[in-house]
Amino acid sequence: MNRKEFVRTTGMAAAAMAVLPGMKLFARTPETKVRMALIGTGARGVSHLDLLLRRSDVDVVAICDIEPRALQAAKEMVSKSGKTMPEVFTGDNYAWKKMVEKTKLDAVVIATPWEWHKEMIIGSLDAGIKYVGSEVMIGITLEDHWDVVKAAEHHKAHVMMLENVCYRRDVMAVLNMVRQGLFGELIHLQGGYQHDLREVKFNDGVNTYGHGVEFGEKGYSEAHWRTEHSVHRNGDLYPTHGIGPVANYININRGNRFHSISSFSSKARGLHDYVVKKGGENHPNAKVNFKLGDVVTTSINCVNGETVLLQHDTNLPRPYSLGFRVQGTEGLWMDVNKGIYIEGKSAKAHQWDDAKIWLDKYDHPLWQRWSKETAGAGHGGMDFFVIHAFVESIKRQTATPLDVYDAATWSAITPLSERSIELGNQTIEFPDFTGGQWMYRKPVFALGADY
Ligand SMILES: NC(=O)c1ccc[n+]([C@@H]2O[C@H](COP(=O)([O-])OP(=O)(O)OC[C@H]3O[C@@H](n4cnc5c(N)ncnc54)[C@H](O)[C@@H]3O)[C@@H](O)[C@H]2O)c1
Repeated sequence: MNRKEFVRTTGMAAAAMAVLPGMKLFARTPETKVRMALIGTGARGVSHLDLLLRRSDVDVVAICDIEPRALQAAKEMVSKSGKTMPEVFTGDNYAWKKMVEKTKLDAVVIATPWEWHKEMIIGSLDAGIKYVGSEVMIGITLEDHWDVVKAAEHHKAHVMMLENVCYRRDVMAVLNMVRQGLFGELIHLQGGYQHDLREVKFNDGVNTYGHGVEFGEKGYSEAHWRTEHSVHRNGDLYPTHGIGPVANYININRGNRFHSISSFSSKARGLHDYVVKKGGENHPNAKVNFKLGDVVTTSINCVNGETVLLQHDTNLPRPYSLGFRVQGTEGLWMDVNKGIYIEGKSAKAHQWDDAKIWLDKYDHPLWQRWSKETAGAGHGGMDFFVIHAFVESIKRQTATPLDVYDAATWSAITPLSERSIELGNQTIEFPDFTGGQWMYRKPVFALGADY
């Protein structure tokens, strides 16, 4: 199978894997459980662990972390579930390598700091694992993204970025509406990550959220690593929650692709202000020069003519909102005002309908079928679906519905936006990770009610 064929088949629900030579696949029957391991049992990792432990079709056989506290939380979760305790790998930053090399695994889930994802994805692929699920962001530099794509192609393996917002109930109902043509031809889309993360970026080294203005060595959980990205980088540092749903609406990498991108950054005040307000102007962190602009705005245009606007806004006081807007020739949805307007179908001309009426009517078949199973799953239930889709793809030995090209395209917005800002907001070319195959690949995401 050459690169072109691989790129094409990963975009289709092809069961080609079973016939590929030299693969570390294990014989499956419908009763065979999926053997999985988890790297990173921090805040996000244990949420995935919880979902995996609830499933009767998965055995979590190994876990890895370097923090005793994170491992302890994971072990307690396993004990409560009544399932067999997985083998624990720890001790140094590369314990995960021993885990993926020595354990018989169908798949691995990675939930570690961003800077580890590329190395862990590629290390897992090199160890022969055919399904790698990585938390959002698959690399730091543009080169990292190419490396991950090339490694997946080389190993003929599947890398799925676990972008859960693609499965949010309203996002999926709107996808259903888009596919049924309610909005007409799509023209413009918006999304982003607009989330006051100040209590995530700073804490007291004990609590996960807030209670102090420490970060780095003195911070805990995401304050331990994520805040450094706000010190050293300026760009859209977290584009995937916004762009994932948008990319599915307009079939990016499947008949359409991003063509060019430019980013603008505001001044940076929010994080410094927060440190001074909460820790006083003499706190050492009041001297830190945060590079990340408080509001970073990115524009992308697509070869099929749509424009996309993304906003990254994590340093200022504000209620959470991803700011979706899906606008076509017949109408639009905006999530902030919970409104939908469809010309000729909405109750009154020039007035918003309550979106709920439409979202209920067009509830996606996946939610209709699985909503009971989503109870208790993170982020309003959407986390269930992303793990469900990953596991069901492994069981069927087929391509994951979000693949390595989606992962690279969405995650690469970060280094591209940094580059654009560095170049004085220049518009730069968006790389085509599919090598031209976007013209032939067909949409596969959430076409039915299975996964
Ligand atoms: N999709 C979502 O909604 C969502 C929500 C939260 C976090 N995330 C993502 O999940 C990932 C993890 O975030 P988090 O909030 O769990 O962070 P966290 O800091 O709470 O957890 C990360 C864990 O990785 C461990 N780790 C670090 N280096 C390691 C190594 N070399 N080997 C093994 N373990 C290592 C840390 O000890 C820690 O326990 C990030 O990519 C983040 O962006 C996604």
